[in-house]
Amino acid sequence: MKKPIQFDLNKQITNLEISKIRQFDDQVSTFEPLIRLTLGQPDFPTPDHVKEAAKKAIDSDFSFYTRTAGDIKLREAASAFAAAKYNLSYEPETEVIATVGATEALATTLFTILNPGDYVLIPSPAFSLYDSLVKMSQSIPVYMDTSGTGFMVTPELIEETIRSLDKPPKAIILNYPNNPTGTTWNKAEVEGIAHTLSTYPQMLVVSDEIYSELVYDDRHISLGEHLREQTIVINGLSKSHAMTGWRLGLIFAPQPISTELVKTHQSLVTSASTITQFAGIEALTNGQDDALPMKTAYKKRRDVLIQTLEKLNLKVTEPKGAFYIFAALPEDIQMSSYDFCYGFAEEYRVAMIPGDAFGAAGEGYFRISYASSLEDIKTAMVRLTDYVNKLRE
Ligand SMILES: Cc1ncc(COP(=O)(O)O)c(C=O)c1O
Repeated sequence: MKKPIQFDLNKQITNLEISKIRQFDDQVSTFEPLIRLTLGQPDFPTPDHVKEAAKKAIDSDFSFYTRTAGDIKLREAASAFAAAKYNLSYEPETEVIATVGATEALATTLFTILNPGDYVLIPSPAFSLYDSLVKMSQSIPVYMDTSGTGFMVTPELIEETIRSLDKPPKAIILNYPNNPTGTTWNKAEVEGIAHTLSTYPQMLVVSDEIYSELVYDDRHISLGEHLREQTIVINGLSKSHAMTGWRLGLIFAPQPISTELVKTHQSLVTSASTITQFAGIEALTNGQDDALPMKTAYKKRRDVLIQTLEKLNLKVTEPKGAFYIFAALPEDIQMSSYDFCYGFAEEYRVAMIPGDAFGAAGEGYFRISYASSLEDIKTAMVRLTDYVNKLRE
């Protein structure tokens, strides 16, 4: 047989690992039937009025490219939504970009702002896309371990990390409400972080606020309100309107930066899907509170989870937003996160994500996504109780 040619491909890519979440999901997928508490997507349907708007867009033959940054009506709706909800002020024409999900918003942002060799501060644990995109940009991730600060990035942690570096970082990526821990900041905390970051005026702030509509007992406070000039706000409709498959993200960024972002966005995707953009106009205009019933359901599920985990004496940080809970492995059991989750999936047919999928600081924890039915969650908790008790015997 002819030996395959060894092509010299892009090292930034060949060195990348497939997301550990996907790897774990594949490994346990043969265990059927399986209750999956792994997925980061709402289990609710997209609201009907949004679906109707998309159908109307198709029937009206809105099947052409939009302007690069998106149809102006969508950008106006996004700007008005951000103003009403988060007190943000971004010019629709020059400071709002519609993207293919928050994923492309993050890729466009990082590919635009980073040069090879730049340092980028990233919390650990964190959503693994940040690490991949920084590495694809030939930049260097610098992790801020939040396991000692209740999974919160604090002003002290930022300052301590910057002091440890041999040159100033180019950017910091922040995510609140947080995947995988569900933590978020209140107003005073956002102001404190904004103040600290303002003392590093050359450092760009990528603020991933994709879960902003899922804050349980408070109002989401955006860094874009308190640190406008340095901040690029990432958001989108995937979580707020149960639209993960529609692929609509948003970037809000001050004008000199957004002008450059548009060039990258154009080179990557030309423009976001036109049909999806028309659905987005409806969602952001007449569906400003579409997340409310989902939030009520998530909160109920969260409370059931906390109750079981606390009864089992597992350390949890109470999620204040998003739909994830990050719990510590039982202290009296010597096991890796991976073995703990794999064993649970194999024996009890419930999948949860091992914490190390979110970086080294996640080892010793597991993530439960509660974007699953209350019934499944209750069944899963009965099984988890049995599993942990058995391991303790
Ligand atoms: C923190 C965070 N940012 C961004 C994304 C990507 O969102 P989208 O589906 O809109 O690309 C996710 C998806 O799970 C996420 O958890």
